[in-house]
Amino acid sequence: MSDLPTKQKLWGGRFTGKTDPLMHEFNQSLRYDRRMHAADIAGSIAYAKSLEGVGILTADERKQIVDGLTAVGKEWEHGTFEVQPDDEDIHTANERRLTELIGHLGGKLHTGRSRNDQVATDMRLWLLGEVRAVEAGLKALMRVMVERADKEKDILMPGYTHLQRAQPIRWSHLLLSHAFSFRADLERLQQLIPRISVLSLGSGALAGNPFAVDREFLARELGFDSVAENSLYGVSDRDFIVEFMMWASLAMTHLSRMAEDFIIYSTAEFGFISLSDAYSTGSSMMPQKKNPDSLELLRGKSGRVFGDMAGFLMTYKGLPSTYNKDLQEDKEALFDSVDTISASLQIAEGVIATMEVNGDKMRAALTMDVLATDLADYLVRKGIPFRETHHISGRAVALAEARKCQINELSLDDFRQLHGKFDEDVMQVFDFEASVERRQAIGGPSRKMVDRQIAVLRSVIAN
Ligand code: ARG
Repeated sequence: MSDLPTKQKLWGGRFTGKTDPLMHEFNQSLRYDRRMHAADIAGSIAYAKSLEGVGILTADERKQIVDGLTAVGKEWEHGTFEVQPDDEDIHTANERRLTELIGHLGGKLHTGRSRNDQVATDMRLWLLGEVRAVEAGLKALMRVMVERADKEKDILMPGYTHLQRAQPIRWSHLLLSHAFSFRADLERLQQLIPRISVLSLGSGALAGNPFAVDREFLARELGFDSVAENSLYGVSDRDFIVEFMMWASLAMTHLSRMAEDFIIYSTAEFGFISLSDAYSTGSSMMPQKKNPDSLELLRGKSGRVFGDMAGFLMTYKGLPSTYNKDLQEDKEALFDSVDTISASLQIAEGVIATMEVNGDKMRAALTMDVLATDLADYLVRKGIPFRETHHISGRAVALAEARKCQINELSLDDFRQLHGKFDEDVMQVFDFEASVERRQAIGGPSRKMVDRQIAVLRSVIAN
């Protein structure tokens, strides 16, 4: 074992001087890239098989290497892997340990391979696994929203524009509006998969693999959809990481906007919802307070994820072709994005599953003026152009305001003064439920259309 390079860096051959200790720290990524240990082992096992396929390894050698790698993988799983001071990253750590376990045969594994194609492969494999988990988290959140919307269809509330009371809607309609943003996120996430699922392995350091390994075999072994057709691209491309972080930035933006609605609704002034204790915290000074910290963190962390994306894109944009060490900076940004979006989806799910919805308060916030458009529409149904009816309804609102009453408290005479087409049935306009039910076009808040939305989302979640 004396010829084994266990006490030197794996790339140590041409170096005579020692690495500055701070440089060593600066350079090492094992602290965070260790979480890709399983992907790294899987990639190496597949690669060993491909080396057997081209006669670089015998069947017996391949078996020893695969067994050794499996043993290294177990050490990571069981938390018994002992990191050595010179382990620079997950790739060098695993290879060092393999060589300790099976001797200098371990040194054959890296034939024709570089950490450049290895790291890109690991990142893609790792991210594919995470995307599946994020997808499940997104669906779980949507499921809670849809079930809640289904149960609470009877609750009416004012819908807002410019944060001003605008028109009556169902509470479910509002909740589902956010669920539809998540549906688009789900579609976008699924559309990323083919661009993540590209095999980099077999690109070598940059100029391809000199031993003609079967890259289609490698893709099949590792479950990739396609093979990078250009080796320079294979080691250089990190678009899949940028794209995931862009995706996460937008999904976090949706969580943030929903959180903002609920923060407003949870104020005493609105009182529409009340967060469960599990997702609120108290004030260290003011005993009466219950703060919506969960929602504020969802809103706040959207900035953080956007920062991960913007920071790495800044690193990425000026790089010359192929691998440059700057690319190591992709990891902490991606890991943080994945961790943050995953936790945020779970928190949002918990908040929505447990919050109390105060239907009476929502209902009480409905004032008759939100039916002013319905009043205009009443005259439209009697053949008068909307531009005129809008004006007439406006005058009714102004009259009620001057009299300090609600518009439904105006008399039929008052209405007739405003326009001769007003009839007794005008009083039927002043019914919030009827207003909502009139909105029967696809996308509206009527019961039928809310049910339709629920059905659409259920089928998306089921797929
Ligand atoms: N730890 C490196 C990274 O994360 C692995 C690739 C290193 N390649 C190299 N040529 N130094 O990017």
